[in-house]
Amino acid sequence: MNCKITTIPGDGIGPEIVREACRVLDKAGQVFGHTFTYTEVLMGGCSIDKYGVPLTEEALETAKNSDAVLLGAVGGNVGNSRWYDVAPNLRPEAGLLAIRKGLNLFANIRPAYLYQELADACPLKKEIIGDGFDMVIMRELTGGLYFGERHTEEVDGVLQATDTLTYNENEIRRIAVKAFDIAMKRKKHVISVDKANVLDSSRLWRKVVEEVAADYPEVKLEHMLVDNCAMQLVMNPGQFDVVLTENMFGDILSDEASMITGSIGMLSSASLNETKFGMYEPSHGSAPDIAGKDIANPIATILSAAMMLRYSFDLDREADAIEAAVQKALTEGYRTSDIMAEGCTLVGTTRMGELIAGYIE
Ligand code: IPM
Ligand code: MG
Repeated sequence: MNCKITTIPGDGIGPEIVREACRVLDKAGQVFGHTFTYTEVLMGGCSIDKYGVPLTEEALETAKNSDAVLLGAVGGNVGNSRWYDVAPNLRPEAGLLAIRKGLNLFANIRPAYLYQELADACPLKKEIIGDGFDMVIMRELTGGLYFGERHTEEVDGVLQATDTLTYNENEIRRIAVKAFDIAMKRKKHVISVDKANVLDSSRLWRKVVEEVAADYPEVKLEHMLVDNCAMQLVMNPGQFDVVLTENMFGDILSDEASMITGSIGMLSSASLNETKFGMYEPSHGSAPDIAGKDIANPIATILSAAMMLRYSFDLDREADAIEAAVQKALTEGYRTSDIMAEGCTLVGTTRMGELIAGYIE
């Protein structure tokens, strides 16, 4: 298979971790007989520096014309006035929102899995961790508060800001269908998270999710209020299989879920549209404080590349091989500094990438 991939290294640690993910992809290609060709484009602060905007039309076009996108991270320190003392739609993060919308990537899949080797890095007590957990957060990514009408005005001499939270039934249905499809391949349990005791958008969410559930009699559906969900994640994480939720709730809950896996440096993600096309990126940010030091953990990006093989190219065996190689590196005791533990071997970004690539067979 020959796959055309747009790479967006972005800012901060982005270039280092994308480089390692490409190293691992290339090794998988070599072992299994595929070719990955990369076209690199700029997004975020580096694009602002070169073109004055966080995402150019040309970069978006390049992404559209490829089979999948591999993204590192965008953004920097908010103290960086070159990127942040400008209108909100010109900041690095606006590039990310624009590419999500521009490619219609409405389904964001964020798996949160506890590797037994990292159980000590999990901030929860052993009795709460139990047998560990393995969940997938399905976050709606192109609607809700992130894309609603917003403005700031002065009313009778008092500043007032408004953000609007809108969902139509089609937007809810298509993400719910993805969640139930994924649940069918897992433990067949969807927990839909909303705030239906207060919000109209959540009441519609619940109604549409129930309609979709009727087409999946084998899948158990439960509803959970978002505040309760935040609590349940740290009280009984093992109860979750597929968590289905809207954009803003998903943003918050996925950070919480990632932290209980031990390090946000381990969490991959996929953002998909109606077709097989997707953008794959670690769930973490650009970590400008550790950029260029060869200490960032590349595993989240490497696992995102594995998701790309699985979801966009139907290369399950190849994705399994990458995931097994990550597991092997951990079992052999190799750790980047964010997950370092006593008795383990500390390695940098490049070495971790080389080790994982070496374990692919
Ligand atoms: C994420 C990030 C983004 C989001 C930011 C950088 C705009 O936090 O991907 O979770 O809120 O979606
Ligand atoms: Mg976030």
